Amino acid sequence: MGKRILLVVAGGIAAFKTPDLVRRLRERGASVRVVLTDGGAQFVTPLTLQAVSEDKVYRDLWSLTDESEMGHIQLSRSADVILVAPATANILARMAHGLADDLATTVLLATDKPVIVAPAMNVRMYEHPATQANLALLAARGVTIIGPDDGAMACGEFGPGRMSEPLSIAAHLADWFTGQAGPKPLAGRHALVTSGPTHEPIDPVRYIANRSSGKQGHAIAAALVALGARVTLVSGPVALPDPAGATVLHVESAREMLAACEGALPADIVVAAAAVADWRVADAAGQKLKKDGGALPSLTLAENPDILATLSKPGPERPALVVGFAAETNDVLAYAQAKLARKGCDWILANDVSPATGTFGGDRNLIHLIRQGQSPETWPDLPKMEVATRLAAEIASHFEFENGKK
Ligand code: CTP
Repeated sequence: MGKRILLVVAGGIAAFKTPDLVRRLRERGASVRVVLTDGGAQFVTPLTLQAVSEDKVYRDLWSLTDESEMGHIQLSRSADVILVAPATANILARMAHGLADDLATTVLLATDKPVIVAPAMNVRMYEHPATQANLALLAARGVTIIGPDDGAMACGEFGPGRMSEPLSIAAHLADWFTGQAGPKPLAGRHALVTSGPTHEPIDPVRYIANRSSGKQGHAIAAALVALGARVTLVSGPVALPDPAGATVLHVESAREMLAACEGALPADIVVAAAAVADWRVADAAGQKLKKDGGALPSLTLAENPDILATLSKPGPERPALVVGFAAETNDVLAYAQAKLARKGCDWILANDVSPATGTFGGDRNLIHLIRQGQSPETWPDLPKMEVATRLAAEIASHFEFENGKK
């Protein structure tokens, strides 16, 4: 690949695999310079990494020699990409929150180069909502995440958390460099994504809402950006950062969401991931409703426009591929099939949102992809970020296939 990689080795047991990782990267023609954290040095010696990288190993933020030879800014600029492997829960947290308390995190905060992380940690640490939220935040800022793999762990537990194998990280980096250099599969396509809940006002201070976090829709927007699409994300009120590279339109109610979507057309792709409120208060009060000791207020509801069905209607502006979600708590596949037909979209991603699954507001999603006229395809239970990557890849291959037919 002929590229310069700055490898940050953090303090996890998987650090013992990094001399092999350096070798694998160099086999592919990359030059590798290593930044080793104090934790990392507990698992692999600087001397080993120096020998395999044939370069100085950088460790100390305060070393005058290092700063005069190559300061932390210079270190981060002298690479084409920064790879953090193993990326422990701790370094991911420090990256997510902008800490710069050692050389590695200072370089990561100072860099203007792409960052790739290969997480490695105990399964419970990986699945902890704090780690998942940190990963989601980093992904939204454009950090690429490789793995982790499932398997037996040094701590005796089993599950996701093993660092991807050095061979596969090296292959991933080579693909990544090719992807950066070559045209991206969705370049030139406009994708419109809806995400989050909607808020339907009762009066100026109260509203009706639902438990959607927007994590899935935001992750999809980021994954489509990564494949080169121009992305417009129409988001209801969420506590998430705007995904890097997307144009984000912030709305509150279903009617505002529909107007923003229609204003963003034409689009080639629509992914409707928002949990749009089905009803709004028919005559929302212009002033705060007061308790006056008399009769309790009653709310009359009116049906909201169906954004997905509206965007799916045949016509000259109908996007080439319209994808909806079906959030169900029971009879998931049957209801989803019916929803696909009723809404007129092309694909539907059905997911079980019954409380026991923890999908709403959670970090994982069990998806059944139903394409019009085809039998459902069930995906493994995946983090929402991986659902997003997989959907974006399916969308890209759909367009490649359609192009091939022409
Ligand atoms: N949707 C939409 N506009 C609405 C309601 C839903 O765009 N007013 C979209 C959602 O973004 C999702 C799909 O329609 O992609 C299905 O949403 P869901 O809440 O599962 O279905 P509903 O239409 O609410 O149907 P039901 O109440 O029968 O479950």
